[in-house]
Amino acid sequence: MNSRVRSVVTGVGGCLPPNIVSNSDLAQTVDTTDEWIIERTGIHSRRRAGDEQATSDLAVEAARVALAKAGRTASDVDLIIVATTTPDLTFPATATIVQRKLGAPPGIAFDVQAVCSGFVYALAVADSFVVRGLGKCALVIGAETMSRLMDWTDRGTCILFGDGAGAVVLEPRTGEGTTADRGILGFSLRADGTKQDLLYVDGGPSTTGTVGKLRMQGNQVFRHAVVNISEAVLAAIAIAEVSMAEVDWFIPHQANQRILEGVAKRLGIDGNRVISTVADHANTSAASIPLALSVGIEDGRIQPGQLLLLEAMGGGLTWGAVVLRL
Ligand code: UT7
Repeated sequence: MNSRVRSVVTGVGGCLPPNIVSNSDLAQTVDTTDEWIIERTGIHSRRRAGDEQATSDLAVEAARVALAKAGRTASDVDLIIVATTTPDLTFPATATIVQRKLGAPPGIAFDVQAVCSGFVYALAVADSFVVRGLGKCALVIGAETMSRLMDWTDRGTCILFGDGAGAVVLEPRTGEGTTADRGILGFSLRADGTKQDLLYVDGGPSTTGTVGKLRMQGNQVFRHAVVNISEAVLAAIAIAEVSMAEVDWFIPHQANQRILEGVAKRLGIDGNRVISTVADHANTSAASIPLALSVGIEDGRIQPGQLLLLEAMGGGLTWGAVVLRL
């Protein structure tokens, strides 16, 4: 085997705003119940950012934790990619705001917009930079204030989403070129723009001139998620040249407990190998996978050297999967 440079996750961090919103809190303002939400989604509560907290603030907190875990400081960072669908401003990119707030030196910084699949897309993009020597200490961040996009009169959507951020530090390491190497071993990305109507925001700078609100045909998205993610996951597994049986932890995008279970079942993954945070975090869009990863590492379930399978699906529609060894 030939040695090969891989993008290795050397630190992981998360940030959740302190304000907890329970299902019963939401039932005060929309026609829903705690029981309905738990039964249909598995969600018990979600976090909501304070009015003064922007997406970049959550991103910076998660990034600081990830850098500390990696034994790095902001001065080491030369590449920042923020996956977000709720940027602080239309421009500049939230990544450049994060760079400034962190005090990172001039380098590469940009956002990736693939909605709930954003972190999977951003990891794949970062991998391409890092293995080419364009990032010695890269921050890949999923950060969202989804509460800002909610129509608080729409019970079909406002109960589903939460705010938060998760970050990983990626660094190049030379491996043996085998599947025992640490780092990103393979990924697959997909998009189908004909499915826009299933999940979108009804505003934007070049159309309405407003931010807009999230609109979703939930049951259609649900069906697409369970049916089509498996193909992308199997493609990533094949590209990584591993088998599903070798996967230690399945870390899916946290949209709905029933989707998590449906996808795991289709893939033949046992429930006790699935990291689920949807009960406490709800759907934090691009932040959900790195947040779940940080929870699994912090509570000691996910260990260095283990094989992780990440997958997500979101607006676009976009979807994809990443296989990596921690
Ligand atoms: O990150 C990717 C983006 N999003 C997702 O992955 C979400 C995917 N979809 C879902 O999670 C589910 O489709 C939902 C949780 C949104 C809805 O669950 P469902 O089992 O697909 O229900 P439904 O949309 O088919 O609606 C069933 C009923 C409807 O009432 P009728 O028409 O049967 O009388 C809805 O009006 O449930 C009603 N309903 C609610 N009832 C109480 C919808 N939302 C609520 C609610 N509380 N919050």
